[in-house]
Amino acid sequence: MTLKIAVIGCGSIAKHRHLLEYDINEHVEITAVCDVVQERAEEAAAKYQAKAYTDYKELLKKEDIDAVSVCLPNYLHASVSIDALDAGAHVLCEKPMATSTEEADQMIEAAKRNGKKLMIGHNQRFVTSHQKARELIASGAIGKVYSFRTAFGHGGPEAWSADGKDSWFFKKDEAFIGAMGDLGVHKADLIRYLLQDEFVEVGAFVETSAKENTDIDDNATLILKSEKGIIGTLVASWAYTAKEDNSTIIYGEKATLRLEDDPTYSLVTQYANGEIVKYELGAIQSNDEGGQTTTHVIDHFIDSIQNDAAPLIDGVEGKKSLAIILGALESVKTKRIYSLEK
Ligand SMILES: NC(=O)c1ccc[n+]([C@@H]2O[C@H](COP(=O)([O-])OP(=O)(O)OC[C@H]3O[C@@H](n4cnc5c(N)ncnc54)[C@H](O)[C@@H]3O)[C@@H](O)[C@H]2O)c1
Repeated sequence: MTLKIAVIGCGSIAKHRHLLEYDINEHVEITAVCDVVQERAEEAAAKYQAKAYTDYKELLKKEDIDAVSVCLPNYLHASVSIDALDAGAHVLCEKPMATSTEEADQMIEAAKRNGKKLMIGHNQRFVTSHQKARELIASGAIGKVYSFRTAFGHGGPEAWSADGKDSWFFKKDEAFIGAMGDLGVHKADLIRYLLQDEFVEVGAFVETSAKENTDIDDNATLILKSEKGIIGTLVASWAYTAKEDNSTIIYGEKATLRLEDDPTYSLVTQYANGEIVKYELGAIQSNDEGGQTTTHVIDHFIDSIQNDAAPLIDGVEGKKSLAIILGALESVKTKRIYSLEK
């Protein structure tokens, strides 16, 4: 059965990932698209032979849609996802999932009540080097894990967003959080996935030091401690002016794993006995390539609908990753280490 898809928000992530990846998925057809900026909706509609809308509620009312991608500014994720779920559609929502745990709970509840899938777009889990590292850690190949450092930084969203330097990314009431929510939440999700462990404590510093057009964080550094006692740092930045950094290093008893740190070998394993194993697994997707590679997010979402299986990053998973950055904000506010344990 061909699934009818609607993409709500026709900005950069829709253009470079969602629309493109739905288009090459043989099980779907892009039926409708929506953007408040009419030309953006019309441009996407013309490219994919879909119907253009400027009001997503009208789209949900008029079209019989099976699944929706929510590619909107962060403050709209919860309300639009819930409306789409209530209209009977499965939802793939971009990250960060929501702006609060209450909103995340409402999204999870809406998916449950309607018997629909809710997936969050944490594409880092689908990167081959990350999947291989997870396997190595789980198999015991690197022994006990002691610590990590993970970073995600680039020059900022002005070069990416459809609205450039006037983007919602820089507006607190629309974004609610800066680099930490744009990039840091991806790494929060990744490190949970790699270590198969949950974080219990977080401390953070955030600064608005590089951008002049905003009052939200453009540099954030978190310290984290897990249930198993693994400690590490998570850094997110919109001020890595020369080059993107998307690397993660895991330090274990028997080996160190270097992920996305070498331009050729996306995973390098340095064993304590001196042996070095380099894996050439293909590079991580970068926004710089204009969508030349696929993130596997869309294919996974469609598979989960067709096989009636829980998506790898469902609402509950998205909420756990969100909780880390919300906890970091609490730490900044209170100038204390914040406990993530309920
Ligand atoms: N998974 C990833 O790696 C990744 C990468 C970039 C962005 N994102 C996420 O994707 C989402 C969208 O970001 P983007 O980079 O595409 O931003 P963008 O600024 O390029 O596009 C956002 C679009 O939403 C439209 N819009 C705003 N309000 C609307 C409304 N009420 N109804 C319909 N359209 C509306 C805007 O006109 C704009 O075209 C964000 O949540 C962001 O965090 C994810």
